[in-house]
Formats: sequence, structure tokens, C-alpha cells
Amino acid sequence: MSKILVIAHRGASGERPEHTIESYRLAIAEGADYIEPDLVMTRDGVLIARHENEIGGTTDVAQHPEFATRRRTQIIDGETMAGWFTEDFTLAEIKTLRARERLPELRPQNCAFDGRFEVPTFDEIMQLAAATNRRRSGGVKIGVYPETKHPAHFAAIGLPQEQAVLDTLRLHGYDAVGSPVFIQSFDPGNLRQLRGMTRLPLLQLLEHELGDLGEIATYADGIGIAKSLASAEGVLAAHAVNLKVHVWTFRAENEFLPEDLRIGTVPAAHGDLEGEIQRFLRRGIDGFFVDFPAIGARVRDAYISGVQPLHQPPIATSLPGKRPQGR
Ligand code: G3P
Ligand code: CA
Repeated sequence: MSKILVIAHRGASGERPEHTIESYRLAIAEGADYIEPDLVMTRDGVLIARHENEIGGTTDVAQHPEFATRRRTQIIDGETMAGWFTEDFTLAEIKTLRARERLPELRPQNCAFDGRFEVPTFDEIMQLAAATNRRRSGGVKIGVYPETKHPAHFAAIGLPQEQAVLDTLRLHGYDAVGSPVFIQSFDPGNLRQLRGMTRLPLLQLLEHELGDLGEIATYADGIGIAKSLASAEGVLAAHAVNLKVHVWTFRAENEFLPEDLRIGTVPAAHGDLEGEIQRFLRRGIDGFFVDFPAIGARVRDAYISGVQPLHQPPIATSLPGKRPQGR
């Protein structure tokens, strides 16, 4: 059986504010095969790790009076967004901000880290990967799994991401065929463009339907699909056209688990994430994005060795059953 990849979604984002060096570092320590940075651009053309270019939800920018006038509303990929946008800030300005937990009601323990960590550049993340590899001295390199976020929007404002992503990978020795890299995007146009620029593996993200897998296979090496699309039949169909299947996103909180795997009724409490991952592993997937890489690696390793993992007690919480913010 080829290895099933554990992809640390935004780092160990269940345990640290997402997309911070500390989140990626913890993910590596916990046994992730790949770390996943979502990438957006600054005004001066630097790739930084954020899930979206609006940074009001994941940084303390709202507490910076010097940036109050930068708040604005714009339409991005057809959606009206209000807030502060990375393309309005230089990297030097971004570096004055500090990360905040995206889901404070579901992950209150992570709020202890609010205000402590910088927003990292893609280059800094690759430096972490390179330092990890040096420590491993000849062992398996840590994989990187960058996602271009809003690539059409950034191209339209004169901040294209594609060459910058490839240049940064090359700078850190991740450009050769066989390097542990997947470049992912929801935008097929972006992936087709990248196909003309690199032989590195590309992955088409899909949320609502699998679509024409044969067509996707003309430019991509895999699909990254929402759990709702990851039936055994869907996995087989993708494999039939030589597409890898990676599934997102596995999270331990009851809020994100199916009813039969929740433990108790508190949305922030942890349910049976192990059981959920096992279900998808049995469908033949090739990898999965997980906010808790330690759990992901443990379940994957046990599955491959044919041993059921020992159930770890979920983290108890007495939080009231509030709804989450964001995704
Ligand atoms: O990239 C896989 C998964 O992360 C896609 O969703 O919104 O978390 O980037 P998102
Ligand atoms: Ca992503």
C-alpha cells in the first residue's frame, strides 16, 4: 500500500492559531507528512500565509488605529467582502500585526496564543521546511502543500502568485520532480496556467461536485475534495483516471463531526475524529487534511499496520453550545 498522506491543514490549526510558524512547527513535530499554507499577496508582492486576503478575522489589525482607514469593502470572486485586505499592506506593515485564533468559541485554548505570533511569509515557511530537513539529515523531507488563494483576483490587480510560488519552492530545493510538493487551487484556470510552468504535482480542489475527472486529469495529478464528495465510488472514479484523492477537512470538534461520532452535545468538545478518519481511509483515499496532525498520523499509521488505534480520551470542555465563526 502506498503511503496515505497526513496533511497538516493550516499547520496544527486545532492547537495553535492557523498559518503561523508555531502551528506548522507543531504539525511537523506531530508527524505530519505535509504542511499546508494558504497563500495571498501583500501590496509589495510578497506571498504570505493566510486563508483569505481579508485579515480582520485572523489578525489584530482592527486594534491598530494606524490602519483604521484601510478598512474597505470590495467584491472578490463574486463575493462582497468587508475588512482589511493583504493587498493594501506592505510586508513591513503586515509584520506589525499578530495572529489571532479564527474560531475562538470552538478553540478557546488557542486564544492564549493570540497576539504572540507573526503572519509568516511563504519564504519563512520554506525556511522552516529546509531547517527540518537539515535536522533529518538524509531522512524523508517534510512536504509542502501550498494553495493559491484568489489567484484571479490577485492577477487582476497586478499581483500574480504563480511565479512567486514556484520561485520560492525552487529557492529552497523543492523544484525537482519527485519533490514532496502539491500545489493546490480551486481555480482550474490557475492550475492550467501552472501546468504550463512546472512539472510539480498539481491538485484541483473541489467542493460541490466531482465534475469531469477525465478533463481534470489533463492538467492535474490529484483532486482535493470535501468529505461530502469522498464516497468509495468517487475515489474509484478518480483513481481510474490516475488522480490522487485527498480529502478535507478533518477536525476533532463535535461541530465538524457527523452526529454518530459526536461525544456529548457541546460543539467545542472533541468527538470521535479517529473513527471519522478510519471511515474515509477504508474508502481508499490517498491523503487527508487534518487540523490535529497527531491524531491523523496515529490513525493513519494504525490503519496501515492493520492495528486499531487506542482511543485517546477527548479533551473535555464545559463551554456552552455556541455556534462557530467562519470555517
Ligand atoms: O486546501 C484544502 C482545504 O484547505 C480547502 O479548504 O478553505 O480550508 O482552504 P480551505
Ligand atoms: Ca487550503
